[in-house]
Amino acid sequence: MSKQTLIAPSVLAADFANLQRDIEMINQSEADWFHIDIMDGVFVPNISFGMPVLEAINKHAKKTIDVHLMIVDPDRYIKTFKDLGSDILTVHYEACTHLHRTLQAIKAEGMKAGVALNPHTNVALLEDVINDIDLVCIMSVNPGFGGQSFIENTYKKVKQLKEMIVRNGASTLIEIDGGVTNKNARQLAEAGADVLVAGSYVFKAENPIATVAHLKQITTL
Ligand code: DX5
Ligand code: ZN
Repeated sequence: MSKQTLIAPSVLAADFANLQRDIEMINQSEADWFHIDIMDGVFVPNISFGMPVLEAINKHAKKTIDVHLMIVDPDRYIKTFKDLGSDILTVHYEACTHLHRTLQAIKAEGMKAGVALNPHTNVALLEDVINDIDLVCIMSVNPGFGGQSFIENTYKKVKQLKEMIVRNGASTLIEIDGGVTNKNARQLAEAGADVLVAGSYVFKAENPIATVAHLKQITTL
């Protein structure tokens, strides 16, 4: 039986003046999720977009909404993001003092709970909480901007994390975020990645629908 890798285009790279058009395009593609980057200008040195824009996206998006919070003290907004239609809510390890409590709060709202790791954060730090995490987002660039180059050390992290998930009998998904292209997608899937986020590579392509189909095809194991 073949294993499909999920593709999650990052709306950060969409044309914001034609957001409805770009959302419909992803609806029609073979993409599996919408990846939504929320930045606060404090946790990361950039501000993306906030609640009204997510509300507008949710009006048109017909696939799973995967929200990546790059904000300090994310506990303040868990319910807000649930009300805005998030299916998966991912917080940063580096932004949570009481990560276990935050994960329970996300799940109590009926969402899947994700944890994102900055490139310098060792996956071993998740050992004691791995069974409580639905998704780990391994950042393969420093968070804050689209269009950066992929950090090669990511493959090693994916393998370590996969090994930890299997060893603990967990069902956690591994997501890779940043610099994903046709050059690294297959190798990431082979290392154990379940979900690939792709921003610029999809939206800046001449034919985004064909680009998603190609990513899907080369990551089917
Ligand atoms: C970076 C964001 C990413 C970004 C990926 O902080 O978390 O989701 O949109 O963009 P690309 O695929 O262009 O690196
Ligand atoms: Zn992201």
